[in-house]
Amino acid sequence: MVYHAGMRPLAATVLLAIPMAVSCSRETPGESAGRPIAKPAAYAPRESCAGCHPAIAKSFAQTGMGRAFSEFRTDRTTARFEGRFYHKASGRHYTMTLRDGTAYLRRHEAGPDGKPRHVLEKRIDYILGSGHKAQTFLHRTPRGELLELPVAWYVERGGYWAMNPNYDRPDHDEFRRRISYDCFFCHNAYPELSGRDDSFLADAIYPEKLPGGIDCQRCHGPAAAHVEAARSGASPEALRNGVVNPARLDRDARMEICMQCHLQSTSRDLPHAVIQPGRGVFSHRAGEPLSNYIAYFDHAPGTGFDGKFEIAHAAYRLRQSKCFTSSRMDCTTCHDPHSVKRGQAALAETTAACVKCHASPAGKMHASAAECVSCHMPLRRTEDVVEVVMHDHRIVRRPPPGNLIAPRKERDRTPYRGKVAAYYPAKPGALPFALAQVRAGANLAAGLTALEAAILAQGEKCGADCYYDLAEAYGKAGRASDVARAAAKALELNPRHVPALRSYGAYLSAKGDLAHGAATLERALAESPGHARTMHDLAANYLRGGRRADAIRLLRGASAIDPDAVEVHLALAAALNSSGDAPGALAAFEQAVRAGPGSAAARYGFAVTLAQAGRKAEALWEAESAARLDPARGDARLLLAMLLAEQGDLGRARLHLNRALLSKDAVVAARAREIAAAIGR
Ligand code: HEC
Ligand code: HEC
Ligand code: HEC
Ligand code: HEC
Ligand code: HEC
Ligand code: HEC
Ligand code: HEC
Repeated sequence: MVYHAGMRPLAATVLLAIPMAVSCSRETPGESAGRPIAKPAAYAPRESCAGCHPAIAKSFAQTGMGRAFSEFRTDRTTARFEGRFYHKASGRHYTMTLRDGTAYLRRHEAGPDGKPRHVLEKRIDYILGSGHKAQTFLHRTPRGELLELPVAWYVERGGYWAMNPNYDRPDHDEFRRRISYDCFFCHNAYPELSGRDDSFLADAIYPEKLPGGIDCQRCHGPAAAHVEAARSGASPEALRNGVVNPARLDRDARMEICMQCHLQSTSRDLPHAVIQPGRGVFSHRAGEPLSNYIAYFDHAPGTGFDGKFEIAHAAYRLRQSKCFTSSRMDCTTCHDPHSVKRGQAALAETTAACVKCHASPAGKMHASAAECVSCHMPLRRTEDVVEVVMHDHRIVRRPPPGNLIAPRKERDRTPYRGKVAAYYPAKPGALPFALAQVRAGANLAAGLTALEAAILAQGEKCGADCYYDLAEAYGKAGRASDVARAAAKALELNPRHVPALRSYGAYLSAKGDLAHGAATLERALAESPGHARTMHDLAANYLRGGRRADAIRLLRGASAIDPDAVEVHLALAAALNSSGDAPGALAAFEQAVRAGPGSAAARYGFAVTLAQAGRKAEALWEAESAARLDPARGDARLLLAMLLAEQGDLGRARLHLNRALLSKDAVVAARAREIAAAIGR
């Protein structure tokens, strides 16, 4: 029996499921070689401060910030590594184990025979988070990327395992979420990139040696001159001039020292901030005006996000407080960043700060108040990380009613559509403002017009990145020929602009200009080798040009480099299948499911090849998974109907057949009608 709908070659269906047009996906950030890298900064070696400031170094090392990131060590976590966790929405089991001091996370599903299926295990190399609230665990790939593993450790209720934010769904990112340079910027000291491009567009590739925690110079700026002055016994002025002391800054500048990491209007794809074009992610130096480096954005008022409360909201919420707007208060009014206090000590410290400004608040609830936090800065469960509670830094007369720490579901992540409002500074430049409108597609039509105007105003000064952004925005708006124009302009300004090479090459290939498309993608790979998505796009180009052997070789290479790239395994499976290599296709589909068990396309392809290989029970199980992941998938319903009918289970076969009959795919629907005629409805 031919299990695939209407005998259509499998290759076509699978390839259709793979977007080949310009890619704007967040999973495939590009890289921009040839950009001027920020001047080598006069940072002192990070260990040098402790020698002369031992007390501060010692106490800072105990704070959450000092321990925000580390190589995996058992004494850096309270997580229980004999743990097991079942995630209901995706039906996956996770096992955390320690072997000889090395930690691993293993994933499996319980297969049709109850045995573990689709087993995948990755070594844990780093810990992100001190564990005061939560810890997430990272794996380092051979290429030097950091992957966030799906399960995290949360400290409430004595500690437990649960999914990372935005993973509570059947088709979550599993082992594939990359730690971008943005994440790293807020969660650690700067990495030593040795001249590598640190644009936010660059592939986030990290050196082998990473710093272990936020360091002094993230708040005190590059201090080599200070160390030099201190060592040579220079004057106190020379010492002071060589380092930023937040105590000597004005209030806004002092706030900005903390806001560089504690101001995030939202963790959703608004975007919450736009780094100034031309600036690298790690180029900000504490003490320079934040707006030279970045502009912050927010949801427009009245769009349903006014009272939002998220995990990195300390500055955002504090800035809404009357205390803040009516006084000169800043973060250091209540926090000594060198020895952040917690628990009772923190309450005492804050209460002392409150009563400095509010000596004797009126009302009987204050007569016996030993602290002020529980009523005015209560703990609240955050909307974006629902396993975590944080103190609401918006100080109000009365907290919002209701149980603020009650369990909650993740907020719907439907992308925001509407105007993106300037937040800080209140008047950002025209270019960052326009970029904020288009980057996540929030306000595309108006944003595109504004972006064209902003780029025109800047002329060539704008650089290749601007035109790349413009090309991406045109791509989102479906304006294909404009994409080509903008990408070509980006490449004219910088012929080695990797993201532009990638998207222009994919665009040309999709359009059918195969020779030019292949040459462009080959250049992208020469600039940044080993990028699986680009290899995939180039292989798709080769396939269209009939160069199947070249395509297969390339895809095999890509799957070895990035075993997590689902689309690579799918394309390989399709190519092998159409070259008649059934066992090869089966193995590649299995790899695709192992990398992306939440991909209905992978499940379906695997089910078809299993059925063809006579492994019916497994085929049935995989097809059921595909239908569960994408209930509208007519081809999976059809396959299920065929397999069940073969088993004589006509009742269940008909149920699936009825769904297949509704398929929008004419081939599937026609085949379903044939079978319905054979077995009756
Ligand atoms: C060779 C010794 C030495 C080293 C190394 C050193 N400092 Fe200092 N630092 C001093 C002295 C001395 C002072 C001035 C005395 C004081 O005010 O405590 C000082 C003062 C400071 C101040 C306050 C400046 C002001 O305006 O009042 C800061 C901030 C500071 N150091 C940060 C750092 C950082 C960050 C590092 C590491 C990159 C560092 N120091 C390394 C000796 C050193
Ligand atoms: C604008 C800065 C910023 C960015 C960007 C950012 N975070 Fe955070 N993140 C924070 C702050 C601040 C907290 C809360 C810290 C605390 O526990 O008090 C936090 C909390 C967390 C936590 C809980 C553990 C902890 O440290 O408290 C995790 C895990 C985390 N972030 C991961 C990420 C990942 C992954 C990314 C990239 C997708 C990211 N963050 C991007 C600032 C940021
Ligand atoms: C380089 C980024 C960065 C900067 C700059 C920064 N923070 Fe943090 N801060 C973090 C992160 C990340 C965490 C969460 C650390 C963790 O627990 O994993 C954090 C945690 C904290 C905490 C909770 C501490 C604890 O021990 O649990 C306080 C309070 C805090 N920061 C205050 C400040 C203040 C005040 C400033 C400015 C003087 C500041 N931060 C500057 C990134 C930063
Ligand atoms: C999270 C930001 C942050 C980090 C990280 C940080 N500091 Fe500070 N530091 C400050 C702030 C804010 C002040 C000013 C405090 C005030 O207002 O009195 C300060 C003040 C100082 C001073 C001036 C004297 C004093 O005791 O207040 C020295 C010295 C200093 N820091 C050294 C260090 C060293 C050494 C490290 C690393 C071990 C470090 N700091 C890490 C924020 C930070
Ligand atoms: C640096 C001074 C300062 C500190 C510290 C401070 N406040 Fe305030 N707070 C103010 C000022 C000024 C106002 C505005 C008074 C007014 O409008 O009459 C205010 C207003 C308030 C209000 C009324 C808010 C409203 O929306 O009407 C409350 C409640 C309050 N503060 C509580 C606190 C608590 C609790 C703390 C400590 C966690 C604190 N404040 C710390 C200065 C401060
Ligand atoms: C009016 C006092 C006050 C001010 C001002 C203040 N905080 Fe806090 N903050 C607190 C209190 C109280 C806690 C809870 C401490 C505890 O119990 O561990 C806290 C906790 C935190 C935490 C730990 C996570 C949480 O919410 O429990 C972070 C991070 C933090 N503050 C950052 C900041 C930053 C950044 C600023 C400046 C934008 C700031 N705070 C200003 C009082 C303040
Ligand atoms: C048991 C809960 C509770 C505690 C604890 C508490 N407050 Fe309040 N506070 C309130 C309530 C409720 C109001 C609002 C009263 C109203 O609107 O009439 C209020 C109002 C205020 C106001 C604004 C009214 C005014 O008098 O100007 C300030 C300021 C204030 N509190 C400061 C404090 C300080 C400082 C502390 C710690 C010493 C504290 N509160 C502790 C419940 C509390």
